Amino acid sequence: MKIAIMGAMPEEIAPILEKLSEYKTTQYAGNAYYEASYKGIDLVIAYSKIGKVFSTLTATIMIERFGAQKLLFSGVAGAISATLKVGDLIVATKLAQHDLDITAFGHPFGYVPEGAVFVEADKEMILLSKEVASDMGKMVQEGVIATGDQFVANEERKNWIGSTFHADALEMEGASVAVVCDALNVPFFILRSISDAADMDASFSFDEFLETSAVESAEFVMKMVDKLVE
Ligand code: ADE
Repeated sequence: MKIAIMGAMPEEIAPILEKLSEYKTTQYAGNAYYEASYKGIDLVIAYSKIGKVFSTLTATIMIERFGAQKLLFSGVAGAISATLKVGDLIVATKLAQHDLDITAFGHPFGYVPEGAVFVEADKEMILLSKEVASDMGKMVQEGVIATGDQFVANEERKNWIGSTFHADALEMEGASVAVVCDALNVPFFILRSISDAADMDASFSFDEFLETSAVESAEFVMKMVDKLVE
């Protein structure tokens, strides 16, 4: 079995690479891909760079070139739901692109013909995440994640995304990775740890908590991998 572990930024995959004693690095299409054996399975690990386009490219390459059969994404997100605080974990049940807009043609936000507003994450891995959470004694919230090519640092925009998509958190890669995995029939799991509240203080909070929140998420994702290989 080959599992892809993906992040958007170096900080999001560094804690995962640190856990591996050895890996092989391949440069391809402007990114580094790290391959390792881990507890009898193969891993491919990469960070895509920020945003929907780069994450689409990386997810596709992990599947099509490196042969990943499952994909787990680890990273940070801005909170929409008031119950999510810095450092809390959210597992995506489904994801939408909040900046996809052809409403001028009568379509809902996040929709284009032959697509869908929401893409659902793999139910088995979501179930597994409940076991991992209980093993680790951690609270993990399930919810909707909204993705767009914007760092949201504005209460009004955040609230609009929350009410339009019933979203609990927002970030910049999840829904594009979801579209790729769904199209290629690869089960996926998207986990995020909160770094900020997507409000006027978001950029300061993000800078302060990126590293610690990324570690929270990466540790959980590695425990997910451990469960998958059991
Ligand atoms: N990732 C983490 N915080 C974010 C925010 N406020 N907007 C977009 N992506 C994020």
